Amino acid sequence: MYSKEEEKKLYEQAKALIEKLPGNNEKAAQSLRDVIVYADWKYYVQSEPVFSDFEYDTLFKKLKELETAHPELVTSDSPTQRVALGLSEKFPPVSHLVPMLSLDNTYNAEDLLDWDRKCKELAGDVPIEYCVEPKYDGASISLIYEDGKLVRGATRGDGVMGEEITINIKQIKSVPLSAAFMRYGVQTVEIRGECVIHKDVFAAFNAQRAAEGLAPLANPRNAASGTLRILDPREVGKRGLTAILYQVSYYTLSGEIPKELHTHYDTIQWLYNLGFPTPTKEMRKFNRIEDVIDFCAAFEEKRDTLPFEVDGLVIKVNDFALQDKMGMTSHHPRWAVAYKFKARQATSKLRRVEFQVGRTGTITPVAKIDPVHIGGVTVTSISLFNEDVVREKDLHIGDTVLVERAGDVIPYIVKPLAELRDGSEEKIKFPSHCPVCNSQLVKTEGEAAWRCDNVNCPTQVVERIIHYVSKDAMDIRNLGGANVLKFFELGLLKDIPGIYHLDWGKIKALEGFGEKSINNLQTSIENSKKQTLNRLIYGLGIRYVGETTAKTLANAVTNLKDLYDWDVEKLTSLEDIGPKVATSVAHFFSQEENRHMLDVLEQEGVNMVNTLKGQAPTDGAFSGKTFLFTGTLHKFKRSEAEELVESKGGAILSGVSSKLNYLVVGEDAGSKLEKAKKLGSVTILSEDEFEELLNAM
Ligand code: IVH
Repeated sequence: MYSKEEEKKLYEQAKALIEKLPGNNEKAAQSLRDVIVYADWKYYVQSEPVFSDFEYDTLFKKLKELETAHPELVTSDSPTQRVALGLSEKFPPVSHLVPMLSLDNTYNAEDLLDWDRKCKELAGDVPIEYCVEPKYDGASISLIYEDGKLVRGATRGDGVMGEEITINIKQIKSVPLSAAFMRYGVQTVEIRGECVIHKDVFAAFNAQRAAEGLAPLANPRNAASGTLRILDPREVGKRGLTAILYQVSYYTLSGEIPKELHTHYDTIQWLYNLGFPTPTKEMRKFNRIEDVIDFCAAFEEKRDTLPFEVDGLVIKVNDFALQDKMGMTSHHPRWAVAYKFKARQATSKLRRVEFQVGRTGTITPVAKIDPVHIGGVTVTSISLFNEDVVREKDLHIGDTVLVERAGDVIPYIVKPLAELRDGSEEKIKFPSHCPVCNSQLVKTEGEAAWRCDNVNCPTQVVERIIHYVSKDAMDIRNLGGANVLKFFELGLLKDIPGIYHLDWGKIKALEGFGEKSINNLQTSIENSKKQTLNRLIYGLGIRYVGETTAKTLANAVTNLKDLYDWDVEKLTSLEDIGPKVATSVAHFFSQEENRHMLDVLEQEGVNMVNTLKGQAPTDGAFSGKTFLFTGTLHKFKRSEAEELVESKGGAILSGVSSKLNYLVVGEDAGSKLEKAKKLGSVTILSEDEFEELLNAM
């Protein structure tokens, strides 16, 4: 896409633009567009960011301001044009330029040998070269570029007609809004691919939904296809979708067929060089089906190490002339086949449903099923989230259920197999009273969950303390769930402030609490008093307040108690805080018992102050320096180490590149360390050395 020299030039160009824009507005706008397109490509396609968020935002803001002052400078492929206002009404049906076919499936070596034999018959007496690439488990999309500009994006639909979702496709930052097709005489081109959500983005999204009391989405595939059809493009933009393009299905030309468009392999390389995200890194070429089979087996082994979900591999005949000769059925091409990995689905019996009480009183139905082995783990318990989910799926006790467990995703029940019912199945009864404290359960209008409203319900109290001490909150190591429960049951710990005045005399008398473990416990309790404010806010377990919202709140105040004066209106003025979250926060801080708890925590010496506030990031000792952490850290939590760097004005990069100054290496560091060593320009630090550097600054 870019040569080394071009990259260097664009990097320097960006730095210069941050300082000062050229006097000629047209030139300035073009120059800003070029560097932002480059920054997006580095970030979203290469995963090797070169600019800090601050630098990127500055460039973007400058372009926006320039375009607002001079609307005639706006081009349809300007990065600012991804940002959409308003809602889509619906997605009109559109026909694909050529039908989007499906793929035939194979499941083992024998199937692949059969397919290879058929290919050879169809191809006649010529050697066949095969390309193998991942089968991405997402939602298929089709893009049309005319004269180099993205003019239409569509879903697959029924393969003949799809839905026009151009505005949502433009929210996918890895999809170029324009590309140099004209340089090859390509006028109209239709490109196919898959829209996916990376597993870590999906996990974070579900964690946020859980914090907001919403049922998590089942898997990244459903999340991707659902997101593509959201009517609010801004919401689409927030979901972190990405795409991988794997086929040029149609094109018109002004001249000869470019040499790049004779084989699948070269076409993918060509798309990559034009700036598209493609399977380039994972794709392989083979002359023998036996080698394809070996590759498939090896790839399946490492499927979980990929950042996105794959459900198999796709094997394609490389040569397009041969593809044409082999042709297609009405359902699938004969020149391609899917090799499907072992299913991550299995069936089991639903034996009973238990009702668990959560930290905020939410009652969660949990399905207990006969043990079943899926994707390397035995599953016996599956959350059913809430009553609506149970009713929608029409689950009954005694049902045979289809269970799925995809990659790192928590298992879930896809559906009951209603056709296997024999009439002995029973309806699932929801309790009217809390299974722990027997209080009458309540349900707020518009919410799916039943709740126990008794704040003194013993399970809620214990869960609140466990949440407070957890790794992502106050991180009081050694005081895990089991100890909290034990101390609670023995009457040694009644509430969160109780952590800070435990009766050590009594604890010493307990079995398993020697001097060393007591010392460790006391140290981590003492250390927790110095935790940052966002961790304290998260640890308070306010309904709907996850880690992100806690950070937003912490950043907005100097002292936690400032929040006593914030009403719903003021809270909703903060980014990403809606009325539901704001109401919950305002309610929490208005409650006398919560204020009392915070008073006690303060008296005990727990930090209530935003220690990071007011430190302009660029003034810090790490100002202008870039860091990346890799491998497992032992002294710091990764987010903590990153916060420290940022608080001192440094920037965190997400990949190793020539712009990286320091790579901090934990245990089992892999390819990033190799790459940094190869580059030679990166200073490699152990965790201890990083700590020294921090202290020295
Ligand atoms: S090629 C005409 N390549 O799998 C053949 N498809 O089960 C077009 N898919 O509808 C498909 N990764 O959505 C191709 N690398 C890949 C793919 C891929 C995922 C999807 C695609 C297709 C479905 C068929």
